[in-house]
Amino acid sequence: MPDVTLTTLQGLKQSGEKIAMLTAYDATFAHAACTAGVEMLLVGDSLGMVLQGHDSTLPVTVEEMAYHTACVKRGNRGAMIVTDLPFASGTSLQRLLDDAVKVMQAGAHMVKLEGGAWLAEPIVRLAQMGVPVCAHLGLTPQSVNLFGGFKVQGRQEAQARQLRADAIALEQAGAAMLLLECVPSALGKEISEAVKIPVIGIGAGNGTDGQVLVLHDMLGLSLTGRSPKFVRNFMEGQPDIPAALAAYVEAVKDTSFPGPEHGFSA
Ligand code: KIV
Repeated sequence: MPDVTLTTLQGLKQSGEKIAMLTAYDATFAHAACTAGVEMLLVGDSLGMVLQGHDSTLPVTVEEMAYHTACVKRGNRGAMIVTDLPFASGTSLQRLLDDAVKVMQAGAHMVKLEGGAWLAEPIVRLAQMGVPVCAHLGLTPQSVNLFGGFKVQGRQEAQARQLRADAIALEQAGAAMLLLECVPSALGKEISEAVKIPVIGIGAGNGTDGQVLVLHDMLGLSLTGRSPKFVRNFMEGQPDIPAALAAYVEAVKDTSFPGPEHGFSA
């Protein structure tokens, strides 16, 4: 497959073909996900939970994000690598820019930042440096303490209005992509239709332009024995991990995943 670029992603949005994205933290799984046809690899700070065993993403450092990005880069075969800037990057604009440099030099093609319209300034600065940004809206795990848990966002009309306004403001600031986590399915569709940039969903219904899942979740692995409502275990009915990854890509592309049972109502 030719290298996935922002133009590829725009083309997929315009044609209505769904974008398949998965988290990856090492070379072997990055390679397996690419072989299965995934267009985007997310080096998520979820690694703090699924690799390191923390109960949130807050302890993850930029050095760890850069290390895992470099591992993923070695296994990548043409997918776009998106790397999270960790919680601590948010202490100042300068630190955020410095951390973006570290993960881009490690092999990322895009950085992901959690937050709303206030990300406009870093997005503009990063774009000036040539760094595309994915803005993560809705349930932003780095704010778990503010939210009082991993809870669906945008159920109340005022919250939904704020999310719509944030999405438009972030697109206008120059964000290359949005990621919507745990919002009602109708809101996921509405926001995806309101912006021209691709919108990737996780627990945001199947009206978004693409889907992402945490690799361990979709392989049926969990430290707690519980799985979020928006996850499907793609190992079920499959002989091995490569087949499960291929089944995920197929289900995203033919829009059978996520089904209504994986979504949230308003
Ligand atoms: O860190 C991560 O893996 C993420 C996904 C939950 C979207 O941000």
